[in-house]
Amino acid sequence: MRVLGIESSCDDSSISLLKDNFCIEFMHSQAHIECLAPYQGVMPEVVAREHCRFLPELIKTISHTIETVDAIAYTAGPGLAGSLLIGSHVAHTLSLYYDIPLIPIHHIEGHILATVIEHGDLWQHGPVLILIVSGGHTQLVYSPERFKYHIIGQTRDDAAGEAFDKIAKHLGLGYPGGAKLSHLAAQAQERFPKNLLSIPMMKNHNLDFSFSGLKTQATTTDYLSYGLSLEQYCATVEYTIVEALKVKTQRALEQHPLCRSLILCGGVAANTSLRKALAQLCVNKKISFFHPHISYCTDNGAMIAAAGLYHLQHQGPALKRTMFIQPRWSLNEEPEQNPSAS
Ligand code: KG4
Ligand code: ZN
Repeated sequence: MRVLGIESSCDDSSISLLKDNFCIEFMHSQAHIECLAPYQGVMPEVVAREHCRFLPELIKTISHTIETVDAIAYTAGPGLAGSLLIGSHVAHTLSLYYDIPLIPIHHIEGHILATVIEHGDLWQHGPVLILIVSGGHTQLVYSPERFKYHIIGQTRDDAAGEAFDKIAKHLGLGYPGGAKLSHLAAQAQERFPKNLLSIPMMKNHNLDFSFSGLKTQATTTDYLSYGLSLEQYCATVEYTIVEALKVKTQRALEQHPLCRSLILCGGVAANTSLRKALAQLCVNKKISFFHPHISYCTDNGAMIAAAGLYHLQHQGPALKRTMFIQPRWSLNEEPEQNPSAS
């Protein structure tokens, strides 16, 4: 079985071809970084136009092999309406022309199932706790069995990636600056203050996050007046965000002792300090820790193809297979427009 994955939820156009054993035959992505540089942020109209430009070009590179594909998985939501529309129409057109079934995929489930590419079926060992950290989402999810997701904690305002990006932008690191901030933080080599910024949401007993207060504190603190270098300040910012994520993940594991594994996914899962902190937490708790390979953390077509293939393998003919988009769509909800109805 071979599945084509098409991702276009925000500002990355990406396609990928995956074989039966989740082996990646092809992946090509085009980030819209250049055209967004003047805006220092995502402009919905601009990225929709970029998807129009890039997706047909990317599809052309695999046109010789599309006929033999068994299914086309595409991101149906959540995401920017214009971006989702372009990707879903490309998928639908190919599906009609070549008579290939479509599989609509939830973007966040794509991030989660990107772990299957390297690590296989994680649910065979028991319930899983998932920490999703991206530019748009920060959620703790308890997954008792495959395809079942209970959101047990989430951000009340900004996502962790958004906090990284906004603080990075303020520090003059460009957009999106999360990875750049992290790169500079590594150069501080552990010499930085750990209590300069407050770790948010520590004085309550829930599993929710909040990063907008930290963003304000971090962008109004004059780090030079504390004698810190930019690298040291980046390390302080990174430490504070990582601690906020780690403490709530630890609490979630304590409240869900049946979990045998922790999955870290989403763009911020590429962050080395976060990976290290959670790896140590899992050693302490004697559970397994999984995250996608760094190439499949930020938005990509392989994670969508992997989710499509995983659904095909486990749900096969029962799968709902029509074209729709849903820009606002929570992971624990069925899509509003039930695809099986059309
Ligand atoms: O999942 P993703 O590609 O897009 C969304 O679905 O939102 O995540 C992108 C986010 C951006 O905020 C980016 O700055 C952040 O992931 N990111 C990082 C790192 N690499 C990507 N944040 C911190 N450290 C990194 N190494
Ligand atoms: Zn994403």
